[in-house]
Amino acid sequence: MTEEPGRITRRFLTPPTHNVHAHLRARMEELGMTVHVDAAGNLRGRSRTAGTRLLLGSHIDTVPDAGAFDGVLGVTLALECADMAREMNLPLAVDVVAFSEEEGVRFGVPFIGSRAIAGRFDPSPLALKDAEDVTLEEAIRAYGLDPSQIPAASQGLDDTLGFVEIHIEQGPVLETEDLKVAAVTGIVGQSRLTIAFTGQANHAGTTPMHLRHDALAGAAEWITAVEKHAKRTEGLVATVGKVESSPNAGNVIAGAVSLSLDVRHPHDAVRLSAVNELTEAANAIAERRGLAIQCTPQMDQPAVSMDERLTAYLVDTMETAGLPPKRMPSGAGHDAMVMAARMPTAMLFLRSPGGISHNPAEAVREEDVEAVLQVTNGFLARVAAEVR
Ligand code: HGY
Ligand code: MN
Ligand code: MN
Repeated sequence: MTEEPGRITRRFLTPPTHNVHAHLRARMEELGMTVHVDAAGNLRGRSRTAGTRLLLGSHIDTVPDAGAFDGVLGVTLALECADMAREMNLPLAVDVVAFSEEEGVRFGVPFIGSRAIAGRFDPSPLALKDAEDVTLEEAIRAYGLDPSQIPAASQGLDDTLGFVEIHIEQGPVLETEDLKVAAVTGIVGQSRLTIAFTGQANHAGTTPMHLRHDALAGAAEWITAVEKHAKRTEGLVATVGKVESSPNAGNVIAGAVSLSLDVRHPHDAVRLSAVNELTEAANAIAERRGLAIQCTPQMDQPAVSMDERLTAYLVDTMETAGLPPKRMPSGAGHDAMVMAARMPTAMLFLRSPGGISHNPAEAVREEDVEAVLQVTNGFLARVAAEVR
């Protein structure tokens, strides 16, 4: 279920999403759920159990050349939890959501699905275009959905007591400490921007070095400045992951370069000041090199703490299962950071062998999946006991 044979790439509402939806819908219906796709492309399974509800889920879109577990494993395990709740005959309705867009690859803005459910959807990205010049609005319509109905995606959640996301850690901590699972304490804040340097395309052979306005050389100088700043700022990570150069020919001095900037830190003040310093550095480099510069914010997501009570339940059930009560922050962004604005939210991590993710080498261990199911089994019973 990929856009690209031989590797996993599944961007927001691209055709393979239909296959994933069909596969998950069959499982949801097997579990007796009523199923629908909301106007933001989230696949929603609603348990027929009456009473208090708990929502579990994660995302099904991926980065290009992704691993097999980021997001979709959380949806699969959420469905297993719904099955466990049914088997245990708990007075708790476990609903499941497969968010449509968490990575932000296709249109440059993440969390389209969870923002719609959280009632935080901002319609301005509807005009954004993807690499094939399709707008977000057209992509939603092409999937058979009506963007004008997106506000309705946030309805019907008042009797939902909280949201829980199970997700691979995507980093080295659990692997280093040889731990299976961890309860997430909070998710670092994240800023995403597009930085465009514009110079003058010119002949690589005839243009003397002192007469150049080389957008790619300017971008390269800035990229090393980004890395330097992050290395000297405790707890900060800053990444330039995407570079588009034009006209992208070996014998032409680059006239225009567009870069992505991804900045993250547990404390918002540090992150925001880093974004400031890095955009100022871009301006100074552009000025010195006779380049034009445009810094366009794409997203600003504050750091978020997970719900104390639900997290304590997770930690308690980890201990009951004989597992160390590990708590840790998440350096990766997740839909949980958006859902936390709407309802009490918690996250459970499982180990990423080799600490690798956003890479086909991404993996999970069977014993860790079993541990997650053991913990969530106890967690569901604990939540159900509370709502009795
Ligand atoms: O980028 C992230 O942190 C997440 O994997 N989308
Ligand atoms: Mn993810
Ligand atoms: Mn991811």
